[in-house]
Formats: sequence, structure tokens, C-alpha cells
Amino acid sequence: MRPASAAAAAAAGRPVLVHSFDEWRLAARDLLAHQVAPHLVQWISHKDDGDLFSQPAEPEAAPAAKQGSPTVRISRKLMDMLQTAACCRVPNRWSFLYLVLWRWQQGEKEVMSAADQDGAKLHAMVKAVHREEHDMHAYIRFRERREEAGAPRFVAWFEPSHDVLPQVARHFAARMGRITWMIATPEASVMWDGATLHSTGPLMRGPEDIDDAGEALWLTYYRSIFNPARLNADLMHGHIPSRFWKNLPEGSVVPEMVSQAAAGARKVGQTRSVGERGGTVIPIAASKAQPQRDVPSTLDGCRRCELWKDATQAVPGVGPVAARLMLVGEQPGDQEDLAGQPFVGPAGQLLDRALAQAQVERREVYLTNAVKHFKWELRGKRRMHKTPAQREIEACSYWLDSELAHVKPQVVVALGSTALKAVTGNPHAALKDVMGKPFLHQGRWIVVIYHPSYVLRVPGADLKAQAFNAMVEGLREAKRLVAQAI
Ligand code: URA
Repeated sequence: MRPASAAAAAAAGRPVLVHSFDEWRLAARDLLAHQVAPHLVQWISHKDDGDLFSQPAEPEAAPAAKQGSPTVRISRKLMDMLQTAACCRVPNRWSFLYLVLWRWQQGEKEVMSAADQDGAKLHAMVKAVHREEHDMHAYIRFRERREEAGAPRFVAWFEPSHDVLPQVARHFAARMGRITWMIATPEASVMWDGATLHSTGPLMRGPEDIDDAGEALWLTYYRSIFNPARLNADLMHGHIPSRFWKNLPEGSVVPEMVSQAAAGARKVGQTRSVGERGGTVIPIAASKAQPQRDVPSTLDGCRRCELWKDATQAVPGVGPVAARLMLVGEQPGDQEDLAGQPFVGPAGQLLDRALAQAQVERREVYLTNAVKHFKWELRGKRRMHKTPAQREIEACSYWLDSELAHVKPQVVVALGSTALKAVTGNPHAALKDVMGKPFLHQGRWIVVIYHPSYVLRVPGADLKAQAFNAMVEGLREAKRLVAQAI
């Protein structure tokens, strides 16, 4: 049996049941169309059984609207505010939102203004929700779990004060590629299977249910970056509201480190943490480390090393096949991995500036990377770049060699050390030996310049400007060599 409409329920003195904003919106439209005043409606809600990502519910059978009842047209801006405010956990939120909508529909447009009493409450709710979204983005920490078929690889626990899980989950889905993860909260959980978001209900009792694999690693990392000489405990607590500390993995080691620092350990703290870091992994001869593999027919199907597993997609080179100049970077970064295009993130923007200064047209050069999949590790909530290993550079040389053979550039610019090793095929090639000294290799000029990420990272304005100018000079030199070779 189809449920009665909201207006019919209100007329019969029954409460209007809503689980989500979409259901409230449909009910509110129906009530407005029947000119049902706010004080005649009782709203109730069960938060637990709704699907976080559900489509709007089917409209319920509505009785005929009252003769002469107004057409319901609601401003986009108001709708956006109501939708955001609906995530705010205040008592009677649905009836308050309907009151606002009712007043607006009655011509009281001031209800959207912060100077109005209801408007002020609406603005405060919107602000609280935005702040909670921001805090959840900032303070969520993913932890890696033990491998388990069908289970998400990364898990985070968070206790939001408002219902912001769906939008936060969408935020991470758009940023973390195809690795699988779950965000659990006391009210609901969301899982990303690499392609789709699923809401799963409250699976866990709390953070203690989260598998601790990776936690120890995180703490080691946090200790290693902790610099007691720069400690300002007040500032630290000021920046991270205290309610988040208990769920931050580093929260458990901070008090110990703070007290050590206060007790005079500042001078030695960092040295000790550096000394305690694990030893280097002993490299295996690259050829032995590589699995047996067939020659893949397309880059996207490449399984020549393991990097494809954690990347969203392979990032191929771009540019004209007739380009005389080829630029080779290291590997796609976070943004390139998501976009499928090389050099579109911050390093790409700096490269664009250097190209413009050297009067080299980006659209005339072929841009590629030594390694075609993004290699990264998760630190908290960020996919951080990890330098590719020699075996990965060698595995990917198959693709770089095909690009070189296809494009046949006269000049190749290697951006940084990984690119230098890749274009020369020499794992021992060192930047310092060849920087500013173009050389011939297999019949083409190789020009070596700094990698743009190095220029971004280098501390101090003077050093940064020097490194940037050296990049520009290298690009100018490459342009001259191209002109000579014609
Ligand atoms: N760094 C690189 O080396 N390549 C890119 O595509 C982006 C950043």
C-alpha cells in the first residue's frame, strides 16, 4: 500500500516521517502546495535505516492541491542552504527547515538574512556543517589493514558532530584513486570499492575495532618527523581542536614527546629519532626482482611491475608525434594519477612557467614520464609521492623506449635524477656530473635540468630563484639545440 502524502498525514494529525533531505524536500513541497502551515506538521525521523547515497524517494500519492494553491518555486540559493543545514544535528531540524521554507514562500525573503532570527539560526547551521566538513577532511586518518579479500585496504574512524559523512566520502572518492577504503562513524559507515561508494551502516563499535596494521608504522613516521626544537605545544593544540586528538594516531605519542622536549630533549630528540629509523632495504638485482611477464599490448594493461595495483590509471605521454623536443619527468603525481595527464598538478604549473620564460611552447613538445604509474604511500589522508625504485624504472623503460622510437626527438630534456637514469639507462648516472652540460646519447642531445618538484621544495627564496633560473636556462639550451639540429 502506498503511504499517504505528507499533506494527507498532516491533515490526519499523523507525523510526517523523513529519513533524508531528499525525502524532506518532497514532503515539504507537498505541504507547501497544500498550504499546510508549519505549526500543523509534526516531523519525525529515523536516522538509522536510510541509505546515505539513496536517490530521492518516490513521490507519495498526494491529494489534489487546494484550489488556487501556489506553484512551489524555491530559489536555488535557499535550497542549497537548506540542504547544508539539514546535515546539522539540532533538535527539530526538519520542522525548522520547513518553517524557513514556509516563511520564504509567504514572501518573507528576509528569512534568508542573518539579521532575521530564523535566518541567523539557518546561517549558523550552515556554518557549523561547513566547519565539520573541513575538520573531517583535515583530521581523518586512514590506517592500513591486513590484506583480506573483499575488505577495504584503508580504514578510518571519525566521530563527526554533524551528518557530513556522505559529502566527505565523495571528497575522498574523488581524490584517492581506486584503492579501497572505509570511513566508519558511530552512525554509519561508507565503503569505496575503487569505483562506487556504498553506505554500510554502523559496522564497528569504535576505533578499537579497527585493525591496527600500519599504526606502528605511522607512529614511527610521526616520531621521525617530530622536531622538538620547533615545538610549540599551545599552537599545536590551538590548531587541532582537542576532540580530534583521541582519534589521531599521533595523539598517543604527542604527550610523551612534548614532555621529553620540555625536559630538555630538544637538542637530542631529532637525532635520536633519526638514529632509530629502520635500515635501508637491500636492493635485489633489478632483472631478478621483476616477475615473469608477457609484453603488454597497451599501457593501461601493463603489469611489468607492481605499481599499477595502487594507481588509478597509467599516465601516457602527450604531445605531437613529430615533436623535436621531448621532456621526461619522473612519474605522475597525485593529480596526474586522477586526471590521466602528465604535469597537470603543482609541478606542472611550475614547469609551465619555466617553459613560458624560455619561450618554449608546451603544445609543441612531447611530455612524458620515466615511470607511468603513480607510486605513493598513504600518510594519514594524503597519497604522498614515493620515488620509484630502479627495478620500476627499468620495467617502465619498455614504454619510454617505445615513445623515443616513435617520436624520434632530436633533444630530450631529463627533469631530475629518475629521468636521467631512465633516458641514459644508467642507474648510476648523477645529476651533478651532467647538469648544465648537454651530451649526446644514442644520436640525440640530452639536457638535464632540475625537476620542478625540487624547485618547489627547495627552501629559501634565493635558492628557489636560482634553481628556477637554471631550469629556464636548460630549456633555452634545449631550444637552441633543436634549432641547430634542423
Ligand atoms: N612530476 C612528474 O615527474 N611528472 C608528472 O607528470 C607530475 C609530477
